[in-house]
Amino acid sequence: MRTKTALIHGGKTTDPLTGAVTPAIYQTSTYKQDGIGNLRDGYEYSRTANPTRTALETLIADIEGGARGFAFASGMAAISTILMLMKSGDHVIVGSDVYGGTYRVFNRVFQSLGLEASFVDTSDAAAVREAVQPNTKMIYVETPTNPLLNVTDMRSVRDIATEADVLFVVDNTFMTPYFQNPIEFGADYVLHSATKYLGGHSDVVAGLVVARTEELGERLAFLQNSVGAVLGPQDSFLVVRGIKTLAVRMEEIETNALALVEFLTSHEAISRVLHPSIAGETAKQVHLSQARGFGGMIAFDVGSAEAAETVVAKTNYFTLAESLGAVESLISVPARMTHASIPAERRAELGITDGLVRISVGLEDVNDLIEDLEQALAALTTITS
Ligand SMILES: Cc1ncc(COP(=O)(O)O)c(C=O)c1O
Repeated sequence: MRTKTALIHGGKTTDPLTGAVTPAIYQTSTYKQDGIGNLRDGYEYSRTANPTRTALETLIADIEGGARGFAFASGMAAISTILMLMKSGDHVIVGSDVYGGTYRVFNRVFQSLGLEASFVDTSDAAAVREAVQPNTKMIYVETPTNPLLNVTDMRSVRDIATEADVLFVVDNTFMTPYFQNPIEFGADYVLHSATKYLGGHSDVVAGLVVARTEELGERLAFLQNSVGAVLGPQDSFLVVRGIKTLAVRMEEIETNALALVEFLTSHEAISRVLHPSIAGETAKQVHLSQARGFGGMIAFDVGSAEAAETVVAKTNYFTLAESLGAVESLISVPARMTHASIPAERRAELGITDGLVRISVGLEDVNDLIEDLEQALAALTTITS
């Protein structure tokens, strides 16, 4: 089954009882037992399993090419549950410019429970190799990263992880399973903030994980049930519905994004534009060797915090908001919004400047989007002249 077909026919999204072509919303916390421990279809209690959540979990496992899927109450709940595979004294190598909330949960939650983390530029395989310690147990990457769109060669990291006998985890939120399947490149767990492209309509907060093997799945199933940060049935239904249109949305979003990259790169008020399609030759080759598209996230630098504030205030069709991956275009200033939890000096080292603006390209007419940015950027020339 090809990806586009799997988005529609993967998993078990048809209701087995009635044949309804969409999953039924099983709004129940528990299930009648026919005698003690005699369960119908294995369902016992909805923290452990719920048929609507199962529909989503089997679908995401199919489209990521893994053994088992898991749905969580948010992307951060998914990430936190994965980190609970670690124990006090273990060490994790984490990409240096991961999402700010991921940085925060490592630094302010799990480090105080005894987990060690080294933040490393994972696009540099030698740096990753060098960071491996005797107590390293996991390598955690985003590719491309949020918000700098840096690309990590998953094959190289997989080799390092295999040699060191550690888990390899990839946050695939930006690319989605439509454009990239990290399990093909050896990831043990692939995760998503399904709040973004998979939900796709800014109407649900959710997280997903796919385990490469049954054994890895068993370990996570234990934690999902024990920790309990599960996704409810209504939200599971919404994510299944979102996934069904993922292909058409990603294709159209990417077409719009490529036109916007062309516009932004030729604009005089902008010093740098970041998108995998215009990454340096090596990074672009690496990206194309592991992904089928470039996606809809773009970052560009307008030079100062003041200029960035002006641009985001002036746009009409790019809504100023956290989040990404929806039908409507969104705009944000990472240094003051999604990445504010990273200390200022660390942001400066990484290149998350105060003038960096991030856009998540939506499905509007691209001519309206270009005109909208054009008039917002024109306000900068008025300020400086
Ligand atoms: C790449 C990435 N991973 C994880 C998350 C966290 O997901 P959630 O907001 O669903 O908890 C986000 C949120 O912005 C993200 O951008």
